[in-house]
Amino acid sequence: MQSPEQNILEIKRLKTKKNAIILAHYYQTGDIQDIADFVGDSLALSQKAASNSADIILFAGVRFMAETAKILAPDKKVLLPDLNAGCSLANSCKKKDFEKFLNENPGRTVISYVNTTAEIKALSDIICTSSNAVQIVESLPPEEKIIFAPDRNLGNYILNKTGRDMVIWNGTCHVHEEFSLEAIIKLKNENPDAKIIVHPECELPVRLVADFIGSTSALLEFTKKDKGYCYIVATEVGIIHQMKKENPGKTYIPAPARDSTCGCSECSFMKLITIEKILSCLKNEKPEIIIDNNTLLRAKKPILRMMEISEKLGL
Ligand code: 13P
Ligand code: SF4
Repeated sequence: MQSPEQNILEIKRLKTKKNAIILAHYYQTGDIQDIADFVGDSLALSQKAASNSADIILFAGVRFMAETAKILAPDKKVLLPDLNAGCSLANSCKKKDFEKFLNENPGRTVISYVNTTAEIKALSDIICTSSNAVQIVESLPPEEKIIFAPDRNLGNYILNKTGRDMVIWNGTCHVHEEFSLEAIIKLKNENPDAKIIVHPECELPVRLVADFIGSTSALLEFTKKDKGYCYIVATEVGIIHQMKKENPGKTYIPAPARDSTCGCSECSFMKLITIEKILSCLKNEKPEIIIDNNTLLRAKKPILRMMEISEKLGL
């Protein structure tokens, strides 16, 4: 058994030897964020996957993110240290059910959140992330009818912002639907100067008490630029590592889930990735993400459409 320091040194050595990069999402543990070559939200991670000179991308995140990287960089080897690192939201939208839903709602442009399997992306017209969802919808002509999947909370958030004709799939994320409004209000009463900052995947009652709503990167940016000094953070707790790193002088209080044992809210899928698994994955170059070519090509189109719109809008 090697010490954590030895594991990290070995990961660094293997990365150089194999020309590999580690892309990590903000919901990873702090030690993983610290060894990553790039840390970001879903949009930034996709953009990075599409433009880098590595031979191997090791994804410290969940499966839909690694699949997106593979779709955008099919010639690279994309590794995910634990293939069980799924996503409750992506799991809530199965291909057969989605096809039925599309047949029941014809004539609509299908916008799917990046938190979907490659199969669902292949059935979509445009992909979005929480960073660009509102702008992607607004980029379409006002009369265009839309299907939005799979997150009903993000869908409702976009619907309220844009007033567009949208039919929304009834999926949720196990982290964001579980925040306790009572606990958030109690924290606010104990810390009256704190601002409540919320991810748009949260349920409406939590969004209604928010001072600011945004994607992980938008929340991070807000805490950097805002004049306040204390924040109640209603998203996965991993983001607080980055907030503390970028703004050590401020206070960040995690919002707890209803049945929380950690006093916060953790994504059980994100937390399947560990330093030990990253090391073993880099050593053995598996588990590897494999997507059949037909699905990959069909899934790529709506992702590229998202990236073109994002680029045009400077997102
Ligand atoms: P972001 O795109 O805001 O990073 O969110 C990803 C995610 O999985 C939210 O639960
Ligand atoms: Fe999926 Fe929710 Fe985890 Fe994000 S936090 S990866 S949406 S289960």
